Amino acid sequence: MMSLRETLAQAAQKKVAIGHFNVSDGTALQAIFDAARSRQVPVMIGTSEGEREHIGVRQIAALVRSLREQYDYPIFLNADHTHSFEKAKEAVEAGYDEVLFDGGKLPLDENIAETKKVVAFVKEYNAAHGTDVLVEGELGYIGSSSVVFDELPQGAAVQEKDLTTAHDAARFVQETGVDMLAPAVGNIHGMFRNAPNPDLAIDRIKDIAAAVRIPLVLHGGSGIIPAQFQLAIKAGMNVVHINTEIRQAWRKGFDTALLMHPDEIVPYKILPEVIESIEHVVGEKLDIFNFISPPAA
Ligand code: G3H
Ligand code: ZN
Repeated sequence: MMSLRETLAQAAQKKVAIGHFNVSDGTALQAIFDAARSRQVPVMIGTSEGEREHIGVRQIAALVRSLREQYDYPIFLNADHTHSFEKAKEAVEAGYDEVLFDGGKLPLDENIAETKKVVAFVKEYNAAHGTDVLVEGELGYIGSSSVVFDELPQGAAVQEKDLTTAHDAARFVQETGVDMLAPAVGNIHGMFRNAPNPDLAIDRIKDIAAAVRIPLVLHGGSGIIPAQFQLAIKAGMNVVHINTEIRQAWRKGFDTALLMHPDEIVPYKILPEVIESIEHVVGEKLDIFNFISPPAA
């Protein structure tokens, strides 16, 4: 079984990106796994602090591990947007494969200092346990909620002057020792209700990729059009995060199920619509990220 590190290297070499999808429950996990498995592509599962508090930190780690072992399948778990050392430690000790320490809202020096502490802990943990947990750092603020909005979130870096520079990225990576980097390149968490998200700064992605030479992660994938994803992946993005569109699919599937079976009370007879709805969205994204079919637009 390939490790996450090896899977990332393989994605970079193939010039594709690994899809990373957030879950709050086992229903979404099943849908994402089914979509990935039917295409035979690796996949990452993410849980934010709130999502893992809901499903259970150790419980989601056990679920993902059990899928990996039972099906001998490259599925990995990331402790997404972790804001404290304590929460990072908790996830690593629970068996997560990756931790994103998110100091994106902090001034650069403070972000470096806090991220370094997490990297030092994880390196020590790996040495003591024979594991290879990876740490991702975040540079630049891109909003914090996976929701549908009408206006850009306050303070999100979308203007050129606010985007992550190749210089800062190189300094951040060198001083912290992170394994992966999430830069602000015009991407934002969440999506517009009635319009696609803004275009990405593709040249900036190329510059950062050349300056850091570690895997790059594109956050805020919901609402981005297929052609933009594929340009970003060709420019050097190795992982793409999607959450808002998963949440929306969960809700739409549930609404459909209730309409179709108003008197049903058996959960496993209601939830297949939720699975189908999420699997459809995840399948479309995996096709785009893995260049399985040409972009629709
Ligand atoms: O870490 C999670 C992702 O960055 C989600 O972003 O809700 O815009 O898809 P999104
Ligand atoms: Zn994110």
